[in-house]
Amino acid sequence: MERLYVDLGERSYDIVFTDSFSDLGAETKKVGSPGKILIVTDSNVAPLYADEAKKELQMSGAEVSVCVIPAGEENKNMNVILDICSSCIENGLDRKSMIAALGGGVVGDMAGFAAAMYMRGIKFIQIPTTLLAQSDSSVGGKTGVDFAGSKNILGAFHQPSLVYINVNTLKTLPEEQFISGMGEVIKHGIIRGRRFFDYIKNNTELIKSLDTDTFIRMSKTNCSIKADVVMNDERENGLRAILNFGHTIGHAAESAFDFELTHGECVGLGMIAASHIAEGRGLITSEQLKEMISVLDGYGFRTKIKLPEYARILDFMQNDKKKVSGKLKFVLPVSIGEVVQVTDVTEDEIISALEFIDER
Ligand SMILES: NC(=O)c1ccc[n+]([C@@H]2O[C@H](COP(=O)([O-])OP(=O)(O)OC[C@H]3O[C@@H](n4cnc5c(N)ncnc54)[C@H](O)[C@@H]3O)[C@@H](O)[C@H]2O)c1
Repeated sequence: MERLYVDLGERSYDIVFTDSFSDLGAETKKVGSPGKILIVTDSNVAPLYADEAKKELQMSGAEVSVCVIPAGEENKNMNVILDICSSCIENGLDRKSMIAALGGGVVGDMAGFAAAMYMRGIKFIQIPTTLLAQSDSSVGGKTGVDFAGSKNILGAFHQPSLVYINVNTLKTLPEEQFISGMGEVIKHGIIRGRRFFDYIKNNTELIKSLDTDTFIRMSKTNCSIKADVVMNDERENGLRAILNFGHTIGHAAESAFDFELTHGECVGLGMIAASHIAEGRGLITSEQLKEMISVLDGYGFRTKIKLPEYARILDFMQNDKKKVSGKLKFVLPVSIGEVVQVTDVTEDEIISALEFIDER
């Protein structure tokens, strides 16, 4: 087992990296004696892992119940949050109780948001089961739901008390979801970890085959990069925005594709588009751009795709909630391992970037 400490003062927590659920009870007990735990999981994950997780969580001495929500981003809404809150009431959760999010980013974001609201905030732990959740969404305390057509527009910062990563759960993950998660991992290498990027590049086959040691090492370094950014800027007042590398165009493409592509795949395309803008400005070389594209390709990303109408993508970009004073923010690489934020990207540069990733 490997362990990482996320230092956020009184909101600090451990991230545990392991290959089974066998220490879940003991690790949960360390963060307090919750009395009651409500596992929130989705309809795909429940049949795979809910019984095992429940059994292990009972070892913490808690009374454990399970709330199964329908799987999928289309269910990431306030109605389902209210269902989770109803389940908290039905199962008698009080201020000392805890919610355990067992699933991907959708479950984590919603269970975390319900935990932030219920009785003005109770503890929650993350037990992420997708690569995206294990590499990104379970760390950092952002929780929330989609509303009125906008992704994650309602939410709260609520840090987990523990993140328990069992890498073996990834064995049941569909390949497209694995690729999606690798998008965030590769992103972390490009924004802040040249050596980490090389590790991902040089161990592609071992990582893809989920070799336990290689994978746990990757997972720990990956989370240390995300955690380091979060520790320096918990509430996204500055540095944390670098995590949005690939997201300005990526998010807009995700919406323009009506969420038919995975988040990570769109981030992958968004990273290529942003890096193309960086190359055009002379911030990175064409060799560096090629290197990034080649790593994404090695993990199964489409590096070009038939894009929807550009006007539609541009419209979604204009509605991006990360705009500041009406200006679009872009994160551009200046090398592999370092990025800058800019607000002066022109429409011509964006169109050229869209053409670069467009298959037509
Ligand atoms: N809070 C944050 O900081 C943050 C960061 C990035 C993304 N997100 C959010 O994360 C969400 C995406 O997360 P995701 O990609 O994990 O999607 P997801 O939670 O929808 O999971 C993807 C699919 O995989 C299934 N699944 C989960 N674990 C499985 C397993 N081990 N085996 C088989 N199937 C499994 C799920 O049921 C679902 O169908 C988005 O809503 C996004 O906004 C949040």
